[in-house]
Order: sequence, then structure tokens, then C-alpha cells
Amino acid sequence: MRLDKLLAHAGFGTRKDVKQVLKKRKVCVDQKHIRDGACQVSPESNEVTVDGEPVLFTEHVYIMLNKPQGVLSATEDKVGKTVIDLLSEGDKRKGIFPVGRLDKDTEGLLILTTDGQMAHELLSPKKHVAKVYFARILGEVTKDDVATFEKGVTFLDGYHALPAKLDIISAQNGQSTIRVKVVEGKFHQVKKMFEAVGKKVIYLKRERMGELVLDSNLELGEYRLLSEKELALLRGI
Ligand code: URA
Repeated sequence: MRLDKLLAHAGFGTRKDVKQVLKKRKVCVDQKHIRDGACQVSPESNEVTVDGEPVLFTEHVYIMLNKPQGVLSATEDKVGKTVIDLLSEGDKRKGIFPVGRLDKDTEGLLILTTDGQMAHELLSPKKHVAKVYFARILGEVTKDDVATFEKGVTFLDGYHALPAKLDIISAQNGQSTIRVKVVEGKFHQVKKMFEAVGKKVIYLKRERMGELVLDSNLELGEYRLLSEKELALLRGI
């Protein structure tokens, strides 16, 4: 494709903006300084840089982050550290934001993107996108709790949650480990569900969103771009 088209797709603005970029900044194709927007480039085989920074060829960027505790799912905050602060300068693309929220003390899978439409689809209450969480619970989770979750828990504030699948991994000595699959994303969803059955979440980690599974190679605070295959899974929602 033409170099100016590629730059426009990569977030450098309109064709007119791109003209200015080509004129005023150092755009290189395979390390050769190019000023002509008509230059043909192939995203697969050419390396394009602007002022030395490699250009991502996609219009949007999709990142999988293993969110650590203590970090806010927000784009900016006056005092706290946000998930955007975890990105390297080169990856802080204009308009990037977290898809939905994990609590400050929740870890695990969080998608960051510039694609508002995709985020909208993933978060739409009508879509019932499944989210799987692993949790440690204060209290012994029982088969009765499993049945209650299956019917739909009533929060202490009266809200009746949609059915959720609760699996007990262990329950002994006053503590439990569980996995729960929920299809909605109310504020403090999982914590409120356990509060409703008289228990307390003491550790929470999101492992899955739709068909997208958190990469176990990502340490807390690490991230990577989604693969084409993973993107297709999200688009299938
Ligand atoms: N449910 C919660 O209670 N907190 C989260 O961060 C996510 C789901």
C-alpha cells in the first residue's frame, strides 16, 4: 500500500496531516529517509519508522495486560498509578484505554485498546460476555452457595444477579479457593456475590474474558499485543 495510507491507518491523522508528517518528521522505510507518500510499502516486509520509532501497521492497537494490584483501571488519575502508566512510552498510543474495570486490588486479564467499537461490544450488558475469575475466599464455600449462584445471587442492596457458575477448588480451615464464571460486570460483582452469601473475597484474579485467556507467561504488570487469532476470538463475540 502507499506509505501515506499506511501512516493514516497507523494513527498519524488524515492524508493532509500525513503530508505534514512526511515533510516535517523523519519517515524511514527500511532505514531510508522517504518524503514521497506514494512510495509503495508492504506491512509484512518493510520496516517503517517515524523519528526512529517503529510504526504499528494496524489502525487500532489491542493489548493484553496482566494487571497487578495497586494500579487503577483508568487512563489518568491525579495521585494513583494507572494501567496506562505500565505501558512503555512507545506503546502509549493516543486514545488507548482499558476495556472495563478491575478493582484496584484485583489482578489479571485486562484488555487495553484504541478501538471503542470493540470495547463497546465486549462491555455491552446484552452480550453477556463470560468472565472467569479465580478467588480466595474467607469462609468455607458450600454446595448451597453453588446452587445459590446458579439461581442468581441477590446482592445485599437487593440487585438480583444473573446465574453464575461457581466451582469449589478447595474449602477447608475457614478458607476456600474457587473459580466463578459471570456474564455481567456490575461494580464489585464478585465481591458482592460472596458478600451476599456471608463470605469475603480476599484475593481476586480475572483469568478469562469471552474466549480470551490470560497468557500465563505474562508476569504481573507485563503485557503484550494480542495475536491475530486472539483478536478473531474477541471479534467473534
Ligand atoms: N468483581 C469484583 O468484585 N471486582 C473486580 O475487579 C472484578 C469483578
